[in-house]
Amino acid sequence: MGLTVVKKDIDYIRATLDPEAVHTLLQKCDEGFVPSLSQTMNLKQYAQKLSDFAQFVIALDNGSEAGFVAYYLNDEGHFIYVPLIWVSSEYQKNGIGQQLIAQLSELSLMGYSSIRLEVLKSNTGACHFYLKENFKIAEERDSKWLMSKNI
Ligand SMILES: CC(C)(COP(=O)(O)OP(=O)(O)OC[C@H]1O[C@@H](n2cnc3c(N)ncnc32)[C@H](O)[C@@H]1OP(=O)(O)O)[C@@H](O)C(=O)NCCC(=O)NCCS
Repeated sequence: MGLTVVKKDIDYIRATLDPEAVHTLLQKCDEGFVPSLSQTMNLKQYAQKLSDFAQFVIALDNGSEAGFVAYYLNDEGHFIYVPLIWVSSEYQKNGIGQQLIAQLSELSLMGYSSIRLEVLKSNTGACHFYLKENFKIAEERDSKWLMSKNI
């Protein structure tokens, strides 16, 4: 038996976060990305940027972060851009990622018509996840795919 947590009550909250809170979240998820976030960016500076411009949906299990999605609202283009989505390894494959995307899809009620993101082609797990979630490849950008989903 692995460490997989059986799906249970997860709360989804929308939030903006101060830079310290974002930094703590980035440190928590850092090693969940390949390469790790801290290998490719300065986490403190990135935390400041996300705090200034992004909003979050956070999946909480008993008050502890099981995952989150960060998103920017592009009002001119009427789309939502996702710079980061992460589910803690012990919670993966329980539908939390799907729920995080579903929470963003609800923003269609506010006039947003698509969700966009970039994913490394080498991140085959995430690519499978996005295709399952009905994202389509919109563009090839060197080592990445730009993906888009109409909502
Ligand atoms: C990508 C990620 C957010 C998916 O979250 P998750 O909670 O495990 O996804 P879900 O359980 O909601 O999966 C939804 C569907 O995608 C599929 N899926 C999820 N991860 C998958 C994987 N690694 N390989 C193949 N399919 C996958 C699931 O099987 C499920 O399909 P189903 O409904 O037919 O069973 C999570 O794996 C993660 O945080 N990865 C590390 C960080 C990362 O790479 N983020 C993306 C950067 S662009």
